[in-house]
Amino acid sequence: MCGIVGYVGKDKCVSKIIHGLEALEYRGYDSAGIAIFNKGKVDTFKEQGRIENLKKRIDLEAESHLGIGHTRWATHGEANKINAHPHTQGKFTIVHNGIIENYIELKQDLLKNGYVFLSETDTEVMAALLDFVYKEEKDVLKTIQKSCKMIRGSFALGILFHDNEDTLYATRLSSPLIVASGEEGNFIASDVPAILEFTNKYYLLDDLDIAVLKNESVTIYNQYNEVLKKELLTFEGNMEAGQKQGFEHFMLKEIHEQDNVFYETIHSYFDGSIDSLKQNFPDLSNFKKIDIVACGSAYHTGLVAKSLIEEYAVMPVNVEVASEYRYKQSFYDNNTLVILVSQSGETADTLAALRKAKTDGITTLAIVNVVGSSIAREADHVIYIKAGIEIAVATTKAYLAQLAIFSLLTIYFAYQRKLLKDEQINKIYEDIKKMPNLIRQIVDNQEYFMIGDKVFQHQNIFFIGRDIDYALSMEGSLKLKEISYINSVAYQAGELKHGTISLIEEDTPVIALSTKDELREKTISNIKEVKARGAKVIYVTTEMPKEKFYDEIILIPRVHPILQSILVIIPLQLISYKVAKNKDCDIDKPRNLAKSVTVE
Ligand code: G6P
Repeated sequence: MCGIVGYVGKDKCVSKIIHGLEALEYRGYDSAGIAIFNKGKVDTFKEQGRIENLKKRIDLEAESHLGIGHTRWATHGEANKINAHPHTQGKFTIVHNGIIENYIELKQDLLKNGYVFLSETDTEVMAALLDFVYKEEKDVLKTIQKSCKMIRGSFALGILFHDNEDTLYATRLSSPLIVASGEEGNFIASDVPAILEFTNKYYLLDDLDIAVLKNESVTIYNQYNEVLKKELLTFEGNMEAGQKQGFEHFMLKEIHEQDNVFYETIHSYFDGSIDSLKQNFPDLSNFKKIDIVACGSAYHTGLVAKSLIEEYAVMPVNVEVASEYRYKQSFYDNNTLVILVSQSGETADTLAALRKAKTDGITTLAIVNVVGSSIAREADHVIYIKAGIEIAVATTKAYLAQLAIFSLLTIYFAYQRKLLKDEQINKIYEDIKKMPNLIRQIVDNQEYFMIGDKVFQHQNIFFIGRDIDYALSMEGSLKLKEISYINSVAYQAGELKHGTISLIEEDTPVIALSTKDELREKTISNIKEVKARGAKVIYVTTEMPKEKFYDEIILIPRVHPILQSILVIIPLQLISYKVAKNKDCDIDKPRNLAKSVTVE
């Protein structure tokens, strides 16, 4: 949700900042801007829309060695050029990610003190606040510290102080920001991909730390003005993650990486023996109830997990969307484990749900992709998925890797409760060994694209299923609507007749999932109900039916039910991709969305 990049060093800064912003465009792409020091003054350039628009209008070779840039996902005010960042007031020019919740109160005070605002943003208020406080404090560090304590909300800020032409300042609270250091200079960035071209060494900032970057130095202070000794971390992933490598879109590339992602994720924790899980996972034997809290696709993995853990480990699992959970009465007790699932590890609502559980003294476990992210750092325990950098806004490989972790957790919980024996685990492991090949076969199957070709002109597409197949339907439906803008609804197959079936017309596509043997006959009856009303049924199953009640069939190789969802989701990803491609949609950057949602 908004991307920030800043650079100071011996090289010219503009092309470096633009490169970084391009790598962060998945965080927002409503407008973009850059501010640079140029011959003693700050020059600011902004454009509406993509970074491409900005790039065409600026001098990439401008004689400047220090600057900040921003790609925006609008929160306060329309996505236009005036509201685009950077914003300047007096001696301060800033870029901001997050939301300043008390900006209206602050703005009223600042208006009384003579400040005039051009934009509708909370960010411009922050710039004015810094300028106002500086007039009293006359010290930039103290000004940043004091101003940050006057605001409520979340922020990551890149700051230029007009009188210090050699210094870049940065700070954060509940919004991500890293400080990177390399031979070519020093950087600030919302996320690692922005700096990978130049360096893989970075520092993590804690809440309210202030980084002061100069050509040759990085100094990090805490909120009490003490200099901190931070560990310089090394990003372990590879740089190719940020490139399409011959694929037309990142989403397709990431779908194709899923065999490896499955392999890496599983084998980081499990070698077939329960001892490996005991060694690599925290001890979770005391818990009797689970709350899974997440947003978007991560929430959908929680629904799959609920089905598996309740069936195999016989533990009650409550799954909730984080934006609801954080404000609700919770019924947990000392035996409850709260599991937070998040690819980015920065989603504001999931982070808030984590903090709520911690405040209430409940143990938390995070399942996260981004190493060192806020959720990973704040949870009591963390299990990392091994998806690598995911660029496409619509998640695929991270979702699959989250499912893989939940498969392992199901085995772990079930074993601890003596509901799975070693022989059964050995059998599951036999299937695990086959999975990368099976994933590859499905990913390479061009037939799913043909289904995309058949349905892409429809206005409404339904996904139906029961139990775990309903959980998968939710993800299939979300994938389709987020990238193709087709209205799509996921429904419990048995519930359809209580109202929603009225929407089924001649030729309405219904993607019907049935992978659970015990429920197959029931689902088939529901499929016949929609078929009788003219639906075109795409039947997704693990068993070839004896009669033909469908129009198209997707037959998925059968594996142990604890692993089955991982295979079922892939054709749904591929169908969505093809529908969006046929509709000429911007697949990697769908309208109105951002990958990392760091605001409420
Ligand atoms: C955004 C993304 C979704 C993602 C959700 C949660 O809405 O577009 O793909 O599932 O955020 O993100 P997280 O990083 O917490 O998994």
